[in-house]
Amino acid sequence: MAQKKKKPLILCVTSGKGGVGKTSFTVNFAIALTRNDNRVLIVDGDMGLANVDVLLRLSVKQNIRDILESGADPRQALIFVRPDLAVLPGSSGVPEMVALGDHQQNRLAAFILEVAQDFDYVIIDTAAGIGSSVLWYNRFCDRNIFILSPDPTSMTDAYALIKLLSRDHGINRFNLVLNFVQGAREGEHTVETIKRVTKRFLKLELAHLGSIPEDKSVKRAVLDQVPFIEQTPGSKASRAIHDLAQRVDMLI
Ligand SMILES: Nc1ncnc2c1ncn2[C@@H]1O[C@H](COP(=O)(O)OP(=O)(O)OP(=O)(O)O)[C@@H](O)[C@H]1O
Ligand SMILES: [Mg+2]
Repeated sequence: MAQKKKKPLILCVTSGKGGVGKTSFTVNFAIALTRNDNRVLIVDGDMGLANVDVLLRLSVKQNIRDILESGADPRQALIFVRPDLAVLPGSSGVPEMVALGDHQQNRLAAFILEVAQDFDYVIIDTAAGIGSSVLWYNRFCDRNIFILSPDPTSMTDAYALIKLLSRDHGINRFNLVLNFVQGAREGEHTVETIKRVTKRFLKLELAHLGSIPEDKSVKRAVLDQVPFIEQTPGSKASRAIHDLAQRVDMLI
């Protein structure tokens, strides 16, 4: 009997504040997920300043916006980094998705759902801020992953986005991944703080998937345009990413 095809799980990596490690996490987490025989698609959802292609040193011929405008088969834009890992590139240097109306948003959803059928996981790397594309991708996905750092401004921005998504967009499940952690105590303290505030003021329970230490090998790998999980597989950050990938089923 033919095996029933598993439905792809669509994850959205988001943060509020910029520069907290969304793109680095997305690329390396995607690679870690392929280790368990999964096929993974990265969607560069940063419609204004895409950079998944930079981290993977890809040469992009067509991006999401080109495909939306031309109506071409979205599979034409996919770049296969390996047989089990593909990237749907985003666009750079154009204003954010504000310009996409309902019709284009529906087409984008149809495009992603169509290409997603060939994969086990789709991971969408979103832009910083609370722009329309960020809100849209968060509504569209099956699970979100909030990346935050122990910096108070990162917590404030993540809280603001969580509040907006829960109050105006009906989303009430949130997963946290803490990045740039200096030690276990610091990580726990940050997570406890944001959990306490969201429980008290928004009546929401947040799940903490895990933490990634601040690690020099991450910066070096970005400069070399190589994923750190491949450049320094034994580094603290790489081990943390593998642990997170093992817990992907625990996302709420
Ligand atoms: N765990 C870490 N340790 C050290 N440096 C890190 C870590 N995670 C990310 N960085 C560095 O932080 C910088 C920002 O990372 P990245 O581009 O992934 O963030 P981002 O959230 O995607 O940013 P943006 O909001 O601009 O899209 C990069 O230079 C990256 O090397
Ligand atoms: Mg980014």
